[in-house]
Amino acid sequence: MITQKTIQEVMNTARVEDVIGDFINLKRRGVNMIGNCPFHDEKTPSFTVSPSKNIYKCFGCGKGGDSVRFIMDHEKLSFPESIRFLANKYKIQIEETENTAQEIEHKQVTDSLYIVNDFARDYFTDVLFNRSEGRNIGLSYFKERGFRDSTIKKFELGYATEERDELTKRAIDKKFNIEHLRAVGLTSKSDLDFFRSRVMFTIHNVSGKVVAFAGRTLSSDKKQPKYINSPESEIYNKRAVLYGLYFAKETIRKEDECILVEGYTDVISLHQGQIQNVVASSGTSLTKEQIRLIKRYTQNIKIIYDGDPAGIKAALRGLDLVLESDMNVKLVLLPDGQDPDSFMSQHGTEAFVNYLKEKEEDFLFFKTKLLLTETGNDPIRKTAVIRDIVSSIAKIPDTFKRTLYIRQCSSMLDLSENILNNEVNKTIKFDLKNKRLDAAAPLPSEQASGQEDWLNPKPILSSDEPSLIFNDAWQERAVCTVLINFGQKIYDENTGVTVAQYILESVQDILSYFDIAQYQKIIHEVAEQISKGHTPDHAWFIAHRNEEIREFAVNVLSSPYVYASWEKKEMFLQTQKMPEENYINDANNALLRLQLRKSRRVIKELKSYFEDASSAEMETEEYQINMKVMQVLIQQRNELANKLGMVTL
Ligand code: CTP
Ligand code: MN
Repeated sequence: MITQKTIQEVMNTARVEDVIGDFINLKRRGVNMIGNCPFHDEKTPSFTVSPSKNIYKCFGCGKGGDSVRFIMDHEKLSFPESIRFLANKYKIQIEETENTAQEIEHKQVTDSLYIVNDFARDYFTDVLFNRSEGRNIGLSYFKERGFRDSTIKKFELGYATEERDELTKRAIDKKFNIEHLRAVGLTSKSDLDFFRSRVMFTIHNVSGKVVAFAGRTLSSDKKQPKYINSPESEIYNKRAVLYGLYFAKETIRKEDECILVEGYTDVISLHQGQIQNVVASSGTSLTKEQIRLIKRYTQNIKIIYDGDPAGIKAALRGLDLVLESDMNVKLVLLPDGQDPDSFMSQHGTEAFVNYLKEKEEDFLFFKTKLLLTETGNDPIRKTAVIRDIVSSIAKIPDTFKRTLYIRQCSSMLDLSENILNNEVNKTIKFDLKNKRLDAAAPLPSEQASGQEDWLNPKPILSSDEPSLIFNDAWQERAVCTVLINFGQKIYDENTGVTVAQYILESVQDILSYFDIAQYQKIIHEVAEQISKGHTPDHAWFIAHRNEEIREFAVNVLSSPYVYASWEKKEMFLQTQKMPEENYINDANNALLRLQLRKSRRVIKELKSYFEDASSAEMETEEYQINMKVMQVLIQQRNELANKLGMVTL
């Protein structure tokens, strides 16, 4: 493994303008440099490089990060590969730790599993093309379905013979370890081949490695499952694989859309027909991991399902997940009994493309319509439909999108926009509250082992940031913004207290009242670092192992709007200094506003407690204490408002 010291050295040496300048033409504009974004098509440059912060950010497509991230995204390299790439550019000697025995063994095992799968892939494809059983049964079947040789080769289709253990025997002859064959599910416990008498589909991960197989039976025996799949293994996590993604990813990025179908053969047929931005979920509804994968390349998903009720239900189940991740989802239903593969072979590419254009429908509108036709005039069932739709809309993070949906759905549901809006807001608040309760739990991306993250770099930027219109999100964000931008600066010359220390001290009491777990998390992280004697700087946040934090840091470090909009938000006039010179003021204001919001909130909560209290409760000690707390809080609130120059109502 590359040592932390080398990584740090590379990160400190690599100048972002220098690294990016090797790939695109940058022009100076003020303190920044700009150029045409290499990650999306644009005519007017919105790709901005900040030499002083050593980061880049595209205001068109949202991508951003540091030099390492740029190389990862631009050159499609993993994290360690990118470090090596940059070390080479700057002639930095790479220092590596001896891998522990355990690491070596783990790496050796996973490498061996890939090699075993490669062997099996070679075997299956060889049988398909070169053995009479494979040619007569498997190859002729694929040909009959209209697959060309080049397609069959590209997707590495194959055939498994009817022999009970031919693959296993050959592998053993070649000195493969039987344990490895078992681990990837090619060999059963009793040493028999798992796939027999089936045409074979090779399943690749996003970087093209063979992780699993699927075998389709050609027999009409109903007792035989149509498809059998490799079991999950060290190298195959079903939830995180999309069939065809390796072949589709470039086109998905180019077309800025991912078409999702159900089956292996659908993917293959569409690819052959030159529609190459297609992947399959392999018969199950989409998982979070799969959505994340797609989101690396696009925000737009078009789901194609055959019109049977089972398929539609499965699709609907995945909807909220997709909405939550701020994807745009369209749905196309095919004529009854058709799947994309059969449609393509009957009508061809042009007809298929036209059909998609004509029939594509917004997924949420589709859901609304579908549920409504099912309920008829039954008011109770209609209420249930409204609840269902409301909870879907509430999952959409983007405010504008949400507003549009509310408008459209209210007319479909024959309900006033206001009522629907209120319901949605209530749901969002409720969800937020639940999230707050979850705040103590680690974020999902943290649970993954570090190694996995390295092998599978995730995009640094998307619109995962929480919506800013609810509760105190805005004020919490402002405090974190100052913390990330200026945490290392000195807050008090006399004591040497840093901005970060000051902020931590000031939010200690209110941290548990934070609405947004992500912001709370950032503060916790900084506290932990400081307790270790290290005050985090820009680079630390940008290189953070947690994707959401990294993303947020790039956003607040590169946003030219933050400063201006702060002032607008509460019409609070500041001196006109640049933010860099005004950080003490910014820290004070951000903290005061946040404290004010929180004390107002507690006051409000206490007020309703007093109002609801029964006369018996009024006698209790708790009630008396709360009265005193209330007095203190009101005084505090007034002081805060005073300092901010605001009138208290
Ligand atoms: N599937 C599965 N196991 C089954 C049936 C289906 O894993 N017993 C998955 C496969 O990924 C399959 C997808 O669900 O590709 C869609 O199933 P289906 O429409 O039945 O198969 P097709 O892919 O259309 O295959 P074919 O056209 O050969 O019937
Ligand atoms: Mn089919």
